Amino acid sequence: MKILAIESSCDDTAAAVVEDGRKILSSIVASQITDHQMYGGVVPEIASRCHAQTIGAVTEAAMRKAALDYDDLEAVAVTFAPGLIGSLLVGVNFAKGIAYASSLPLVAVHHLRSHIAANYITHPELTPPFVALVVSGGHSHIVLVKDYTTFEVLGRTRDDAAGEALDKAARAMGLPYPGGAHLDAMAKGGDPRAFSFPHPHVDGSALDFSFSGLKTSVVNLLHRAAQKGETLDYRDLGASYQWAVTDCLIQNTLRAMELTNQKKLVVAGGVSANSVLRERLQTICRSRKIELYLPQLSLCGDNAAMVGAQGYYEYRAGNIANLLLNARASLAIEDRG
Ligand code: KG4
Ligand code: ZN
Repeated sequence: MKILAIESSCDDTAAAVVEDGRKILSSIVASQITDHQMYGGVVPEIASRCHAQTIGAVTEAAMRKAALDYDDLEAVAVTFAPGLIGSLLVGVNFAKGIAYASSLPLVAVHHLRSHIAANYITHPELTPPFVALVVSGGHSHIVLVKDYTTFEVLGRTRDDAAGEALDKAARAMGLPYPGGAHLDAMAKGGDPRAFSFPHPHVDGSALDFSFSGLKTSVVNLLHRAAQKGETLDYRDLGASYQWAVTDCLIQNTLRAMELTNQKKLVVAGGVSANSVLRERLQTICRSRKIELYLPQLSLCGDNAAMVGAQGYYEYRAGNIANLLLNARASLAIEDRG
């Protein structure tokens, strides 16, 4: 079954054709990084306009690359929540147009569900149930994936997302947007014990995260050094900070696996590209006999192939939308919308 998938939830305009939820026939991603870089972050108004300008060409390119006509498709899947509302609306309305014009079923896909589904493409043998650590620019969740369309959130951030915490620290160190990947590259080979950071404690839940204290402490450290005219070793600082952030993610995830008695761990979202997180999890999971699934690097960030993967399972579960479908800026991963 071939699905055309559209993604426009933040600052990437993407289209893909995916077969049976697991095989990429084409995947095109048009990044808006250069459009937002001078502002140091995503400007929602600019993001919507860029999506509107680009989405037609990106979709045509995906269809051309897959060498298919619209008649060859069996459904159109689109990210409808959560994300920037103006950005989501562009993709949702575009997908509705194609579904209507080609008489195809429309499938609404939750963005975080699709990040998890990226792993079905990278690992054809992967099946639920498993625990997923979902870490992106806007979300940090530990999720029990009971089956392809049934989710239970076990832990979540109480404040900033992990990606946000990395991006803000990167920005304070003068690195360009989006900071996470730049921080990762800059900190390679740095000493993760050179600087110590507080270990955030969250009252009431052993599985929830808090990153705002960590972020504040790195910003304060940089301010104090600037006031005293001291120069800090940014490579060591970046390495230590990434160690502290990944410590929180890893500790809570392992705790969640013990509590749920799961032996499969899936990592998803933009931060799953982080080399420190990947390496540390590989070592820990090997020693604990946990099966670890990481998405291939090309599927860590936002893309439409993952939407096609999750769209396939939503379609099979009978989750078909109609032309009344609306975009939602926020929606829990458990909800169908
Ligand atoms: O999933 P994603 O592409 O977009 C959202 O849905 O938010 O995630 C973007 C986040 C950003 O915070 C970005 O800095 C972070 O993923 N990111 C990284 C790396 N690559 C992207 N963070 C750490 N290390 C990386 N290599
Ligand atoms: Zn994302």
